[in-house]
Amino acid sequence: MKRLISTSPEITVRFGYEYAKTLKNTDILGLIGELGSGKTCLVRGIAKYFRITDDIISPTFLILNQYKGINPLNHTNIIINHFDFYRLKSYEELHSIGFDEYISDMNAINIIEWPSLLLNEKFKMKQWKKIILKHGKESNIRIIRY
Ligand SMILES: Nc1ncnc2c1ncn2[C@@H]1O[C@H](COP(=O)(O)OP(=O)(O)OP(=O)(O)O)[C@@H](O)[C@H]1O
Ligand SMILES: [Mg+2]
Repeated sequence: MKRLISTSPEITVRFGYEYAKTLKNTDILGLIGELGSGKTCLVRGIAKYFRITDDIISPTFLILNQYKGINPLNHTNIIINHFDFYRLKSYEELHSIGFDEYISDMNAINIIEWPSLLLNEKFKMKQWKKIILKHGKESNIRIIRY
């Protein structure tokens, strides 16, 4: 894994923007990190790359925020599904919100905060990418592994 030390929210947004260039339709990206580690901040950068102008907020109470963007490489429409599994307790619950349908959308990229449910054995066939964020010693430092 590579490592980046971010010293500000802006740098984390910039990292998300650069990382977005590696994402393809149907990708599943899990963002692993404690409260306030910068997961949503990173999603802001990804959204910016896909020309999304909506405010990006943590979908904690909604489970899913969906954004319509444009892939700058080929100018096609792309959907960003931004999930937060913080409140979900079981794979069955995940299944009941229609997760399997969302991730089979050929025009969508799926980003998940608190993705540990993906480790559930029922999900093991799907590949997913991971970014791990940790707080550093100073309040402005985040260590990002990807
Ligand atoms: N280097 C940094 N990178 C990202 N955020 C930082 C950094 N330094 C300080 N911050 C602050 O940390 C907070 C990160 O919040 P953010 O909502 O992105 O976290 P989160 O991981 O999504 O949390 P939650 O699990 O509650 O959704 C923001 O208040 C931001 O200003
Ligand atoms: Mg968040």
